[in-house]
Amino acid sequence: MARLQGRVAIVTGGARGIGAHYARALAAEGARVMIADIADGTQLAGEIAAQHGADTAAYRKTDVSDDVSVRALVADTMERFGRIDILVNNAAVYASLKEKPFQEIDIAEWDQVMAVNVRGLFLMAQHVAPHMIANGAGKIINIGSGSSTRGIPNMLHYVTSKGAVTGFTRALSRELGAHGICVNTLAPGFTLSDSVVEHNPGHVEGARPGAIARRALKRDAYPQDLLGALVFLASPDSDFVTGQTLAVDGGATNN
Ligand SMILES: NC(=O)c1ccc[n+]([C@@H]2O[C@H](COP(=O)([O-])OP(=O)(O)OC[C@H]3O[C@@H](n4cnc5c(N)ncnc54)[C@H](O)[C@@H]3O)[C@@H](O)[C@H]2O)c1
Repeated sequence: MARLQGRVAIVTGGARGIGAHYARALAAEGARVMIADIADGTQLAGEIAAQHGADTAAYRKTDVSDDVSVRALVADTMERFGRIDILVNNAAVYASLKEKPFQEIDIAEWDQVMAVNVRGLFLMAQHVAPHMIANGAGKIINIGSGSSTRGIPNMLHYVTSKGAVTGFTRALSRELGAHGICVNTLAPGFTLSDSVVEHNPGHVEGARPGAIARRALKRDAYPQDLLGALVFLASPDSDFVTGQTLAVDGGATNN
Protein backbone atom coordinates (compact mmCIF):
# COMPACT_ATOMS: atom_id res chain seq x y z
CA MET A 1 0.00 0.00 0.00
CA ALA A 2 1.19 3.55 -0.74
CA ARG A 3 2.67 4.86 2.51
CA LEU A 4 2.13 8.57 1.78
CA GLN A 5 -1.44 8.55 0.49
CA GLY A 6 -3.16 11.87 1.24
CA ARG A 7 0.11 13.62 2.16
CA VAL A 8 1.49 16.75 0.52
CA ALA A 9 5.25 17.23 0.14
CA ILE A 10 7.42 20.16 -0.87
CA VAL A 11 10.78 19.19 -2.38
CA THR A 12 13.17 22.12 -2.69
CA GLY A 13 15.74 21.75 -5.45
CA GLY A 14 13.35 19.14 -6.81
CA ALA A 15 13.58 19.99 -10.51
CA ARG A 16 16.76 18.06 -11.24
CA GLY A 17 19.54 15.97 -9.73
CA ILE A 18 18.75 13.91 -6.65
CA GLY A 19 15.79 16.16 -5.79
CA ALA A 20 13.94 15.02 -8.93
CA HIS A 21 14.34 11.42 -7.75
CA TYR A 22 12.98 12.41 -4.32
CA ALA A 23 9.94 14.05 -5.97
CA ARG A 24 9.23 10.93 -8.08
CA ALA A 25 9.68 8.60 -5.07
CA LEU A 26 7.28 10.58 -2.84
CA ALA A 27 4.69 10.66 -5.65
CA ALA A 28 5.08 6.91 -6.17
CA GLU A 29 4.13 6.47 -2.49
CA GLY A 30 0.94 8.48 -3.00
CA ALA A 31 2.04 11.99 -1.98
CA ARG A 32 1.13 15.08 -3.98
CA VAL A 33 4.33 16.98 -4.65
CA MET A 34 5.23 20.64 -5.03
CA ILE A 35 8.57 21.04 -6.79
CA ALA A 36 10.34 24.23 -5.70
CA ASP A 37 13.50 25.18 -7.56
CA ILE A 38 15.22 28.03 -9.36
CA ALA A 39 15.58 25.54 -12.21
CA ASP A 40 12.52 24.72 -14.31
CA GLY A 41 10.52 21.79 -12.94
CA THR A 42 7.55 22.09 -15.30
CA GLN A 43 8.50 18.99 -17.26
CA LEU A 44 9.00 16.87 -14.15
CA ALA A 45 5.67 18.00 -12.68
CA GLY A 46 4.05 17.03 -15.99
CA GLU A 47 5.76 13.64 -15.96
CA ILE A 48 4.55 12.91 -12.40
CA ALA A 49 1.02 14.12 -13.20
CA ALA A 50 0.91 11.93 -16.31
CA GLN A 51 1.90 8.92 -14.21
CA HIS A 52 -0.07 9.49 -11.02
CA GLY A 53 -2.96 11.84 -11.89
CA ALA A 54 -3.61 15.45 -12.87
CA ASP A 55 -3.42 17.00 -9.42
CA THR A 56 -0.43 15.06 -8.05
CA ALA A 57 2.39 17.48 -8.87
CA ALA A 58 3.09 21.14 -9.46
CA TYR A 59 6.14 23.32 -9.96
CA ARG A 60 6.74 26.77 -8.56
CA LYS A 61 9.88 28.72 -9.34
CA THR A 62 11.41 29.43 -5.95
CA ASP A 63 14.62 30.86 -4.56
CA VAL A 64 14.87 29.31 -1.09
CA SER A 65 17.28 32.02 0.05
CA ASP A 66 14.63 34.69 -0.52
CA ASP A 67 11.93 35.29 2.08
CA VAL A 68 9.37 36.68 -0.39
CA SER A 69 9.87 33.75 -2.75
CA VAL A 70 9.49 31.18 0.06
CA ARG A 71 6.33 32.85 1.40
CA ALA A 72 4.82 32.76 -2.11
CA LEU A 73 5.76 29.07 -2.50
CA VAL A 74 4.10 28.11 0.77
CA ALA A 75 0.97 30.16 -0.01
CA ASP A 76 0.76 28.59 -3.47
CA THR A 77 1.18 25.07 -2.04
CA MET A 78 -1.62 25.66 0.49
CA GLU A 79 -3.87 27.05 -2.24
CA ARG A 80 -3.28 24.14 -4.61
CA PHE A 81 -3.07 21.23 -2.19
CA GLY A 82 -4.63 22.51 1.06
CA ARG A 83 -1.99 21.17 3.44
CA ILE A 84 1.74 20.50 3.88
CA ASP A 85 2.90 17.29 5.58
CA ILE A 86 6.44 16.77 4.33
CA LEU A 87 9.25 19.23 3.65
CA VAL A 88 12.40 17.98 1.94
CA ASN A 89 15.05 20.68 2.28
CA ASN A 90 17.23 19.48 -0.60
CA ALA A 91 18.07 22.72 -2.47
CA ALA A 92 21.72 23.65 -2.21
CA VAL A 93 24.56 25.19 -4.09
CA TYR A 94 26.54 22.03 -4.79
CA ALA A 95 27.01 20.59 -8.26
CA SER A 96 28.15 23.92 -9.71
CA LEU A 97 30.91 24.44 -7.12
CA LYS A 98 34.51 24.10 -8.21
CA GLU A 99 36.94 22.72 -5.66
CA LYS A 100 39.44 25.34 -4.50
CA PRO A 101 41.67 26.12 -1.50
CA PHE A 102 39.75 28.15 1.07
CA GLN A 103 41.99 31.21 0.51
CA GLU A 104 40.56 31.45 -3.01
CA ILE A 105 36.89 31.46 -2.01
CA ASP A 106 35.63 35.01 -2.36
CA ILE A 107 33.15 36.54 0.05
CA ALA A 108 30.31 36.63 -2.48
CA GLU A 109 30.63 32.90 -3.18
CA TRP A 110 30.84 32.10 0.56
CA ASP A 111 27.71 34.17 1.25
CA GLN A 112 25.81 32.61 -1.66
CA VAL A 113 26.48 29.08 -0.39
CA MET A 114 25.41 30.03 3.14
CA ALA A 115 22.31 31.89 1.89
CA VAL A 116 20.99 28.91 -0.04
CA ASN A 117 22.31 25.96 2.01
CA VAL A 118 21.63 27.38 5.49
CA ARG A 119 19.27 30.37 5.33
CA GLY A 120 17.16 28.41 2.82
CA LEU A 121 16.46 25.69 5.40
CA PHE A 122 15.58 28.31 8.00
CA LEU A 123 13.15 30.20 5.76
CA MET A 124 11.50 27.03 4.51
CA ALA A 125 11.04 25.70 8.05
CA GLN A 126 9.83 29.06 9.34
CA HIS A 127 7.05 29.33 6.75
CA VAL A 128 6.08 25.66 6.51
CA ALA A 129 6.06 24.84 10.24
CA PRO A 130 2.88 26.81 11.08
CA HIS A 131 0.90 24.59 8.70
CA MET A 132 2.39 21.44 10.23
CA ILE A 133 1.73 22.76 13.74
CA ALA A 134 -1.91 23.30 12.75
CA ASN A 135 -2.06 19.60 11.77
CA GLY A 136 -0.19 18.45 14.90
CA ALA A 137 2.15 16.45 12.64
CA GLY A 138 4.82 16.83 10.00
CA LYS A 139 8.12 15.59 8.63
CA ILE A 140 11.04 17.87 7.88
CA ILE A 141 13.93 16.15 6.13
CA ASN A 142 17.09 18.21 5.76
CA ILE A 143 19.66 16.98 3.27
CA GLY A 144 23.10 16.98 4.84
CA SER A 145 26.29 15.42 3.53
CA GLY A 146 28.96 12.99 4.63
CA SER A 147 31.47 15.65 3.57
CA SER A 148 30.86 17.56 6.83
CA THR A 149 31.45 14.48 9.01
CA ARG A 150 34.78 13.85 7.33
CA GLY A 151 35.71 17.46 6.64
CA ILE A 152 36.83 17.12 3.03
CA PRO A 153 39.26 19.80 1.80
CA ASN A 154 38.76 22.43 -0.92
CA MET A 155 35.00 23.02 -0.45
CA LEU A 156 35.09 24.87 2.85
CA HIS A 157 31.89 26.87 2.28
CA TYR A 158 29.91 23.79 1.22
CA VAL A 159 31.25 21.54 3.99
CA THR A 160 30.62 24.25 6.61
CA SER A 161 27.07 24.72 5.35
CA LYS A 162 26.37 21.00 5.55
CA GLY A 163 27.83 20.91 9.06
CA ALA A 164 25.24 23.55 9.96
CA VAL A 165 22.48 21.22 8.78
CA THR A 166 23.26 18.82 11.63
CA GLY A 167 22.90 21.49 14.33
CA PHE A 168 19.84 22.95 12.64
CA THR A 169 18.13 19.55 12.65
CA ARG A 170 18.99 18.78 16.28
CA ALA A 171 17.83 22.13 17.63
CA LEU A 172 14.70 22.40 15.47
CA SER A 173 13.63 18.86 16.44
CA ARG A 174 13.48 20.03 20.07
CA GLU A 175 11.38 23.10 19.21
CA LEU A 176 8.92 21.19 17.03
CA GLY A 177 8.70 17.89 18.91
CA ALA A 178 5.87 19.16 21.12
CA HIS A 179 3.82 19.61 17.93
CA GLY A 180 4.38 16.06 16.70
CA ILE A 181 6.78 17.19 13.99
CA CYS A 182 9.86 15.07 13.23
CA VAL A 183 13.00 16.78 11.97
CA ASN A 184 15.83 14.63 10.64
CA THR A 185 18.90 14.85 8.43
CA LEU A 186 19.45 12.48 5.53
CA ALA A 187 23.18 12.51 4.81
CA PRO A 188 24.22 11.03 1.47
CA GLY A 189 27.80 10.16 0.66
CA PHE A 190 29.23 11.11 -2.73
CA THR A 191 26.41 10.23 -5.14
CA LEU A 192 26.44 10.13 -8.94
CA SER A 193 23.56 12.56 -9.49
CA ASP A 194 22.89 13.69 -13.06
CA SER A 195 23.79 17.24 -11.92
CA VAL A 196 27.24 16.46 -10.66
CA VAL A 197 28.04 14.09 -13.53
CA GLU A 198 26.95 16.69 -16.10
CA HIS A 199 28.21 19.92 -14.52
CA ASN A 200 31.24 18.91 -12.52
CA PRO A 201 33.21 16.03 -14.11
CA GLY A 202 36.37 17.26 -12.37
CA HIS A 203 34.76 16.80 -8.94
CA VAL A 204 33.46 13.36 -9.95
CA GLU A 205 36.93 12.28 -11.06
CA GLY A 206 38.50 13.52 -7.83
CA ALA A 207 35.86 12.32 -5.36
CA ARG A 208 34.72 8.97 -6.75
CA PRO A 209 37.68 6.63 -6.07
CA GLY A 210 38.12 7.82 -2.45
CA ALA A 211 34.38 7.59 -1.81
CA ILE A 212 34.25 3.98 -2.92
CA ALA A 213 37.39 3.09 -0.96
CA ARG A 214 35.88 4.51 2.28
CA ARG A 215 32.69 2.46 1.99
CA ALA A 216 32.00 -0.92 3.52
CA LEU A 217 29.90 -1.55 0.39
CA LYS A 218 32.46 -0.93 -2.34
CA ARG A 219 30.52 0.52 -5.23
CA ASP A 220 29.21 3.80 -6.67
CA ALA A 221 26.19 5.48 -5.04
CA TYR A 222 23.21 6.50 -7.16
CA PRO A 223 20.18 8.69 -6.30
CA GLN A 224 18.07 5.50 -6.13
CA ASP A 225 20.14 4.38 -3.12
CA LEU A 226 18.70 7.29 -1.09
CA LEU A 227 15.02 6.77 -1.78
CA GLY A 228 14.25 4.07 0.80
CA ALA A 229 15.66 6.25 3.59
CA LEU A 230 13.84 9.31 2.28
CA VAL A 231 10.46 7.58 2.21
CA PHE A 232 11.13 6.08 5.66
CA LEU A 233 11.79 9.55 7.11
CA ALA A 234 8.68 10.92 5.35
CA SER A 235 6.36 8.12 6.46
CA PRO A 236 4.70 7.06 9.73
CA ASP A 237 7.38 4.31 9.99
CA SER A 238 9.67 6.98 11.49
CA ASP A 239 7.13 8.67 13.80
CA PHE A 240 9.36 8.19 16.87
CA VAL A 241 12.60 9.21 15.12
CA THR A 242 13.65 12.85 15.34
CA GLY A 243 16.79 14.96 15.61
CA GLN A 244 18.82 12.21 13.92
CA THR A 245 21.27 12.02 11.06
CA LEU A 246 20.78 9.01 8.82
CA ALA A 247 23.93 8.43 6.78
CA VAL A 248 23.19 6.68 3.49
CA ASP A 249 26.70 6.19 2.21
CA GLY A 250 27.44 2.50 1.91
CA GLY A 251 28.88 2.40 5.42
CA ALA A 252 31.50 5.13 5.00
CA THR A 253 30.29 6.82 8.19
CA ASN A 254 29.79 4.99 11.47
CA ASN A 255 27.63 7.34 13.54
N1 LIG B 1 25.55 14.37 -5.24
C1 LIG B 1 26.25 14.17 -4.14
O1 LIG B 1 27.32 13.56 -4.12
C2 LIG B 1 25.73 14.67 -2.82
C3 LIG B 1 26.31 14.17 -1.63
C4 LIG B 1 25.83 14.62 -0.40
C5 LIG B 1 24.82 15.55 -0.36
N2 LIG B 1 24.29 16.02 -1.53
C6 LIG B 1 23.21 17.00 -1.41
O2 LIG B 1 22.08 16.51 -2.11
C7 LIG B 1 21.34 17.61 -2.64
C8 LIG B 1 21.14 17.43 -4.13
O3 LIG B 1 22.40 17.37 -4.77
P1 LIG B 1 22.59 17.10 -6.35
O4 LIG B 1 23.74 16.18 -6.49
O5 LIG B 1 21.30 16.72 -6.97
O6 LIG B 1 23.12 18.53 -6.87
P2 LIG B 1 22.40 19.85 -7.38
O7 LIG B 1 23.39 20.91 -7.20
O8 LIG B 1 21.83 19.65 -8.74
O9 LIG B 1 21.17 20.01 -6.41
C9 LIG B 1 20.74 21.21 -5.94
C10 LIG B 1 19.35 21.59 -6.44
O10 LIG B 1 19.00 22.81 -5.77
C11 LIG B 1 18.59 23.77 -6.73
N3 LIG B 1 18.90 25.11 -6.22
C12 LIG B 1 20.10 25.74 -6.17
N4 LIG B 1 19.97 26.97 -5.64
C13 LIG B 1 18.66 27.12 -5.35
C14 LIG B 1 17.90 28.17 -4.77
N5 LIG B 1 18.46 29.33 -4.42
N6 LIG B 1 16.56 27.97 -4.57
C15 LIG B 1 15.96 26.82 -4.96
N7 LIG B 1 16.64 25.79 -5.52
C16 LIG B 1 17.96 25.94 -5.70
C17 LIG B 1 19.34 23.41 -8.01
O11 LIG B 1 18.69 23.97 -9.15
C18 LIG B 1 19.26 21.88 -7.95
O12 LIG B 1 18.04 21.41 -8.47
C19 LIG B 1 22.10 18.87 -2.24
O13 LIG B 1 21.60 19.35 -1.00
C20 LIG B 1 23.51 18.34 -2.04
O14 LIG B 1 24.25 19.17 -1.18
C21 LIG B 1 24.71 15.62 -2.75
